[in-house]
Amino acid sequence: MTELLQDQPVMMPRIGDPAPSFTAETTQGPSNFPADYVGKWVILFSHPADFTPVCTTEFMTFATMQEEFQAYNTELVGLSVDGLYSHIAWLRTIKDKMVFRDMEDVEVTFPLIDDVSMKVATKYGMIMPGEDTTKAVRAVFVIDPKGIVRTIIYYPLSLGRNFDELLRVVKALQTADAFEVATPADWRPGDRVIVPPAGSCGTAKERMDGDVEDVECVDWFFCTKDIPAEQMEAAIRVS
Ligand code: BEZ
Repeated sequence: MTELLQDQPVMMPRIGDPAPSFTAETTQGPSNFPADYVGKWVILFSHPADFTPVCTTEFMTFATMQEEFQAYNTELVGLSVDGLYSHIAWLRTIKDKMVFRDMEDVEVTFPLIDDVSMKVATKYGMIMPGEDTTKAVRAVFVIDPKGIVRTIIYYPLSLGRNFDELLRVVKALQTADAFEVATPADWRPGDRVIVPPAGSCGTAKERMDGDVEDVECVDWFFCTKDIPAEQMEAAIRVS
């Protein structure tokens, strides 16, 4: 079975592609994706199964951080190949019983998609047969306000995601868009950013001679500038 599935061509969107559209039932009602989210950033993420421990810690963490994501115009949408009643029962159990770190009484109010048919998981390449033929891996798709896939991250079943990293990804993408820059390794808000290559921001000579305002170059191809955290926040934070 696994070998047969592994031989099948895998469908999945790529970075820069329009997010594949679908309609689905969710714990918050019907969803028409990504049309319902035009004008917003969305994190569409899958988890292997309801009533499993790592997924429980992930949902508690994501739900606790939801307002922080919304402050950056970003909505969360979960998915597993479980049905609606399983989702509802699991989320109720999380609220009524689960304690993880300093989190308890956590209500998950973002939608969780019923994908018993695996229609959506298959469309998004969330089933990786070498890992598991009947469960989605921990996939993360960051989709921009125009419905374009901007980042894809995959984790295996055994590895819980780092949600601070997902928030950093959202802020980095939004900063890159707002200021037409790129972000270096391990960038954090307030760190210097990479300015675009010579031509779009001064000639190589002007950059190296220090003639481009606020830009510092180590070599013709490696120039940075400061975007103070407050300026970045003012550009990307919506609440
Ligand atoms: C978990 O979420 O705990 C889990 C789910 C599937 C496989 C292994 C762990």
